[in-house]
Amino acid sequence: MKLKMTLLGLVVGGILTTAAEVEKPWLDSTLTEGDRVEMLLKVMTLKEKIGQLNQSHFGRNSNPNNVTSTPPDAGKGVSGSILYMSESPETRNALQRHLVTKSRLGIPAIFGYDVIHGLKTIFPVPLAQGASFNPALTKSGCAVAAEESCKVGIDWTFSPMIDIGHDPRWGRVVEGYGEDPWLTSVFAVAAVQGYQGDSRADLKRPDKVAACLKHFAGYGASEGGRDYHYTSIPLQELFDIYLPPYKAGVDAGAVTIMSAFNDISGAPASANNFLETEVLRNRWKFDGFIVSDWASVVQLINQGFAKDAAEASERALKAGTDMDMVDGLYIAHLEKLVENGQLPVSVIDESVRRILRIKFRKGLFDNPYVTVYPETERFLKPEYRALAKQSAIESFVLLENKNELLPLDVTKVKTIALVGPGADDDDGMNGSWVGHGNPKDVITLKAALEKQYGSRIKIIYEKGCDYTAKTTDFTKVLNAAEQADVTIACLGEPHSWSGENRSRSGIYLPGSQNEMITALKKTGKPVVSLLFTGRPLELRTVKENSDAMMIAWYPGTEAGNALTDVLFGVESPSGKLTISFPEYVGQIPVHYRRRPPSRHSPIGDYIDGPTKPLYTFGDGKTYTEFKYSNLRLDRTVADKNTTIKATVTVTNTGKKAAKETVLWFINDPYATHNTRPIKELKHFSKSFIKPGESIDVTFEINAGTVFSYPDADGKMHFDAGDIHLMVGNLKTKIECVE
Ligand code: BGC
Repeated sequence: MKLKMTLLGLVVGGILTTAAEVEKPWLDSTLTEGDRVEMLLKVMTLKEKIGQLNQSHFGRNSNPNNVTSTPPDAGKGVSGSILYMSESPETRNALQRHLVTKSRLGIPAIFGYDVIHGLKTIFPVPLAQGASFNPALTKSGCAVAAEESCKVGIDWTFSPMIDIGHDPRWGRVVEGYGEDPWLTSVFAVAAVQGYQGDSRADLKRPDKVAACLKHFAGYGASEGGRDYHYTSIPLQELFDIYLPPYKAGVDAGAVTIMSAFNDISGAPASANNFLETEVLRNRWKFDGFIVSDWASVVQLINQGFAKDAAEASERALKAGTDMDMVDGLYIAHLEKLVENGQLPVSVIDESVRRILRIKFRKGLFDNPYVTVYPETERFLKPEYRALAKQSAIESFVLLENKNELLPLDVTKVKTIALVGPGADDDDGMNGSWVGHGNPKDVITLKAALEKQYGSRIKIIYEKGCDYTAKTTDFTKVLNAAEQADVTIACLGEPHSWSGENRSRSGIYLPGSQNEMITALKKTGKPVVSLLFTGRPLELRTVKENSDAMMIAWYPGTEAGNALTDVLFGVESPSGKLTISFPEYVGQIPVHYRRRPPSRHSPIGDYIDGPTKPLYTFGDGKTYTEFKYSNLRLDRTVADKNTTIKATVTVTNTGKKAAKETVLWFINDPYATHNTRPIKELKHFSKSFIKPGESIDVTFEINAGTVFSYPDADGKMHFDAGDIHLMVGNLKTKIECVE
C-alpha cells in the first residue's frame, strides 16, 4: 500500500503524462555521453526537465536533522533522484521500474543515500580514518561501502565530507579527516576512487557508486562551532585551506558535489555564484552536478538571501545548484519563473544536462535495475570485517604510555577490571552516521576480551558510570579495580553527541567520568584509558590519572577485536592525530597550520593558562621508538620545473615492529603575496619497520606544485627565496629561483 501511494506520488508533476511510445535513440549505448544527453534534452518538456532537478525522498528518515513537513514516503513531485532510505533492492527496483516503464521518456532516477563510513560493515568514523594516515585503507573501505550500497540499490553516496574544521565544538569534525587541507585532499581522492573506481569507466560497474564531495564550501568554519551558522572566510584562506580538498576531489573525477548550508561571507553557499559557477565550473571545469543540502534552498529565506520560495529557487539555480534536495522548491516555482521571463530555459537546460550526463556515466540508462542478491551474500563478509578491523587498528592514537604499560603481557596479567560506559556500548561504537549498520553486528571490547582472553584472564566488568549522568558512588568500580592487575577505563562522549547539529559549548568529558578516573588512579593500580569520541576533548584530568591513554574514536563494527589486538600487542598502534586537542576550550581555534605572530612567544600568549594545545597534529606514539637521521637532498636549488628528491633514514630503535608515518612539512619564511604558516604538511607515507631495521623514506618534491601558494584570487605563486623542509626533528633548506 505504501509503495502504491509513493508511485502515485511520483506521477504528480506531469512526467507520467502519456503512455504513448516515444522513440528513444539515447538508449543506444554506442553513442557518446554528450550526444545521448543532447538527444534526450531536445525532446523533454519543461515539466520533465524540472522533474530532473528535483530530489524526493523515500523510506525511513534516520537523520533527525532532516526536518521536513512532508512524510518521508510522499514521493513529492517528479524525481530525477530519490534519497533512498530503505534497505530493500526490490523496492528500489520497483520504484525505478515505474519511472522507466511508465513515464513518457523513461528516465531512470539516481538513488542517493548517506553512506559515510560504511553501510552495514561500519568502518571507523572519517576523523579516525584520517588518523590512520593510510588512505589506501580508506580507499578499500569506501570500495566495500560501495559494494554493500549497490546491493540495496544505492547508486550514489553523499560522501566524502571534506570540510576543514578548526573548532572541535562543531559536531561535524567527526565526519571529516582532520584540520589539514593537504591530508584531507589525499583522503578525498582515496574516497572518490574507492567509491567510483579508478577510471571514469569504472563508475558504470555494478559495484560502484557516485561520490559526492560535501559541503561546498567552508561549512567547517561555522562561527563559534555552531552548526548551520555564518562563516566568515577571507578569500585567501578559502583558496588556501577550504577549497584544496574539493579541487583534489574534482580532479579525481568526483561526479557530484553538495552545496553547504552556511552563509559564507555574506553569500550562502547554496546560492553562491562565485563558488558554484566561477570556481567550480569555469576554473576547475567540473562537469558533474551540484545537489543542494537538505532543504538548503528554502533556507535561503531564513538566511535573508531570498524574500520568498520563488526567489530562493531562482537564486540557487542561477548560481549553480542543479538539484534541489527534498524541499520541492524547484518543482513548485521554476515553471512560473520561466513563464514570467525571470529564468531563461537555458539555465534549466544546463542543469538538466549535467544531471543526465552523470546518469549516463553511471550507466543508469543501460542498466537501470540492480541485481538482487540473497540476503546472506550482501553484507558483512569476513573480508569486509577484516578490513574494518585493520582500519580501526591503524586509527587508534596512543598518546600516553608511562612505564610501557602497553602492550599488556598476557602471561602476566591475571585479572582485568574493564570499566566505563564505552566498554560494552555496541551502538556507540558505530559512531555518528551508521548507514544501515546494526549494533547487533558490533563486537564491543567486552565481547572481544571475553572471547579471546576470557579463558586465561579474569575479566571483571563494571560500567561504573554513564557517559553523561552524574554519579558519586564508585564503590563497585573501585572494588573491581582493587582486585585487578590493570584497569581498562572506556571513557568518552555518547556517539549521539557528534555529528550534525551536535555543537557543544565546551569539550569537557561529560558526566562523572573525570571523577571516576581520578578515583581509579587512587587505587594505585595501573590504568589504561580508552577514549571513544568524535571530537577533541579536554583530557588533562584523564592524562594525569592514566598510565596509558589511547584515542579509540568510534571504531565501527570491529571495535572490540581491533582494540584487543592493540592492547595485547598483536598489533602496534600507528595512528597520529590529524586534529589538535586543545587543553581547554579557551584555546579554540587551535590548529597546527598557524601563521607566525608579530611578537615571539611568550609575548602574546595567554597569561592565565597554557597557549599550546595538550596534543597537536601529528602526535601519536607506538610500542617502539623511531630515530630520524641523514636528511639529504639530491639538489638544493630549484626552479618551478625542478623535481627534488628528499630522503630521510628512519630506524626502529626499539624492540617491537610497528608502522611509522613520516610527515614532511615546509615553511616559507617570507612570501611575496601573503604570509605563510609556520608549518604546512606536504607529504606523508606510512611504512612497516622491524626492530633494528633502517629504511630510507623519500619525498619527490615537484617544486612548482609543492612550494606554490595561492593569493586571494586563487592564483598560485612560486617565489624566489628559501623554503625550509622539515621531517621528524630534522630540517633543511631549499633555495628557489625563478
Ligand atoms: C546533511 C548532509 C546529508 C543530507 C542528506 C543533511 O542534513 O547536512 O550531510 O548528506 O542531510 O541526508
